[in-house]
Amino acid sequence: MSSAASLQIDSEGRLRHLLTTEGLGKDLILSILETAESFLPVGKRQIKSAPLLRGHTVVNLFFEPSTRTRTTFELAAKRLSADVLNLQMESSSKSKGETDLDTLLTLQAMGVDVFVIRHPDKGATAGFAAEVGNEVAILNAGDGANAHPTQALLDAFTIQRHKADFGNLSIAIVGDVLHSRVAHSNIHALKTLGVPDIRIVAPEALMMEAPEQLGATPYYDLASGLKDVDVVMGLRLQHERMHEKKINDLPAYHRDFGLTRDNMRLLKPDAIVMHPGPINRGVEIDSEVAYGERSVILEQVRNGIAVRMAVMAMIAGNRQY
Ligand code: NCD
Repeated sequence: MSSAASLQIDSEGRLRHLLTTEGLGKDLILSILETAESFLPVGKRQIKSAPLLRGHTVVNLFFEPSTRTRTTFELAAKRLSADVLNLQMESSSKSKGETDLDTLLTLQAMGVDVFVIRHPDKGATAGFAAEVGNEVAILNAGDGANAHPTQALLDAFTIQRHKADFGNLSIAIVGDVLHSRVAHSNIHALKTLGVPDIRIVAPEALMMEAPEQLGATPYYDLASGLKDVDVVMGLRLQHERMHEKKINDLPAYHRDFGLTRDNMRLLKPDAIVMHPGPINRGVEIDSEVAYGERSVILEQVRNGIAVRMAVMAMIAGNRQY
């Protein structure tokens, strides 16, 4: 088990931090999804708040840009009645030479309970979790191309709300899997939940290393990858993480790997279309697919609030002091 996977579970087997979906047990994942279900109605009430995190301080510490992850974490914390601070680190004391860990320890000294951290470096959030005090929880909101556990959990939650049983699903993850923390976290979670057919569909240049070792099957041809699946998950080209392996010919990429109205006919008739966002229309997905009748992309965003509430409430409830 990776150090992140063991760091996030306490001696009683409960969630202490959330750093990765790797090694999270099936029962634990299902209980997060069940707790999220119980929070969904809060978002529909006129007074959208529950008191579970009253008196807690949550800091969103983002060293990389984000729209939906940061705002849904903020709303989730506020709907649990926490005090919330948002720090976009490009614009803070980083320019004065302070290390990221020193920033974190400074905030910890102010009595922060939960840090939600996005960072460009793989393993950064696990590194922080190893350094913080016992009273502090770290939630990984994306570390480089490594992991994005709350995205995978909200994806699983969205799938569960449409497809009763994970045990007979075919799911295709299509696009830049090589650089996608979303894909990596999804594969671990979906495998644990018992999805028998996980397809990784990408051109050679963007295929991840050894998907078979994680229980997924590589496909280099979009049509066969999409054939009769229940769920298709599109991914953005992560240009900011491409170094040697670049995709420059976007029209050719769209022709070979874009999700279009035409190739959506290959899916099962009741299949759903997902995407973590941000979408690049006309590159990995066409507008009429992103906003078409099969799309659950905006539902994913809404579900993200309930799932993030669930994770924060569970971790706060597990604290012993
Ligand atoms: C993803 C991310 O940041 O990893 N977006 C998200 O969190 N919703 C995917 C992406 O940036 O393409």
